[in-house]
Amino acid sequence: MITLVTGGAGYIGSHMVRALLRAGRRVVVLDNLSTGHRRALPPDAAFVEADVRDTAAVTALLQEHDVDAVLHFAGLIEVGASVRDPIGYWSTNFGGTLSLLGAMEASGVKRIVFSSTCAVYGEPGVVPIVESCPRRPISPYGRSKLACEHALADVAAADPAFCAVALRYFNVAGAAADGSVGEDHQPETHLIPRVLNAARDGGGITIFGTDFPTPDGTCVRDYVHVEDLCAAHLAALDRLTPGLAAFNLGIGRGFSVREVIDTARAVTGRAIEASAGPRRAGDPPRLFADPTRARELLGWSPRAVELEPIIASAWRWTRQVSS
Ligand SMILES: NC(=O)c1ccc[n+]([C@@H]2O[C@H](COP(=O)([O-])OP(=O)(O)OC[C@H]3O[C@@H](n4cnc5c(N)ncnc54)[C@H](O)[C@@H]3O)[C@@H](O)[C@H]2O)c1
Repeated sequence: MITLVTGGAGYIGSHMVRALLRAGRRVVVLDNLSTGHRRALPPDAAFVEADVRDTAAVTALLQEHDVDAVLHFAGLIEVGASVRDPIGYWSTNFGGTLSLLGAMEASGVKRIVFSSTCAVYGEPGVVPIVESCPRRPISPYGRSKLACEHALADVAAADPAFCAVALRYFNVAGAAADGSVGEDHQPETHLIPRVLNAARDGGGITIFGTDFPTPDGTCVRDYVHVEDLCAAHLAALDRLTPGLAAFNLGIGRGFSVREVIDTARAVTGRAIEASAGPRRAGDPPRLFADPTRARELLGWSPRAVELEPIIASAWRWTRQVSS
């Protein structure tokens, strides 16, 4: 039996493909390479270049490769871009998921792990965030992901054999320990790679808001190592049961923007210039997960619970990638 990884040429997907192969599973990747990279795929993973919205192509792939489970990473991921291009985000994220679900139904594939996000919670009044926290996303990106969760729940309600898990990631960061893959988004909007790109190339970094009600005035976020995230997916795959279950994937602790920059300075040994800029719209002061449910039901505990190992692995990767 084979696991389909959609978006397997992207940042998280390319780490997941390696984790699956290490765990002895056979893998086929579907990716349209719109933001992913062919070079991020190992040679022992089968690859089909296609758009997840092409239901006929996905159906053919599921049947030809005898797929029994799907890890669905393919999607567009930038909150700001989703505000400027809501149709593109709804089409790829929600339309892509509906297309995949149609192909799975046509092929009798009933097991899926879906890449959801803490953006489904919007601006929660309370941290740490538990899964039962109201889901009130404030961007087209978050709303398109929440709609996918609703679709999965409806499919599961209609088919007693359908097994789905939505994993709500917090801020995914870090790179493979062997340096083979890492984060490579164009443009890069995530804090840790932006700080490390500044360490490598110079140019400094702007902090969006220094007057938040947090200890040092900058935003606090929960950073989870990409390899820990992959371990949670393996656990979720092993424990899929009928219905839809949702889990927060974060370490359960927040670090401020200034803490990230200070740790990056220590790890890289480089002076990274940081200047204060205005807040961005819709940035809550503090977001971090309560990952108790994932620990109790998936048996998942992240190994990296400090910034240093996350940033050190990302720095090894950043140094070897040309600017
Ligand atoms: N990176 C994070 O911190 C984070 C946090 C929360 C949730 N997520 C979710 O995790 C998933 C993966 O994120 P990532 O950081 O690896 O993003 P990424 O952009 O690196 O990877 C996405 C992959 O999907 C592919 N893709 C996009 N549209 C496609 C389409 N229509 N058909 C086929 N392939 C398509 C891209 O080419 C790319 O390889 C996304 O669904 C994202 O919403 C990521």
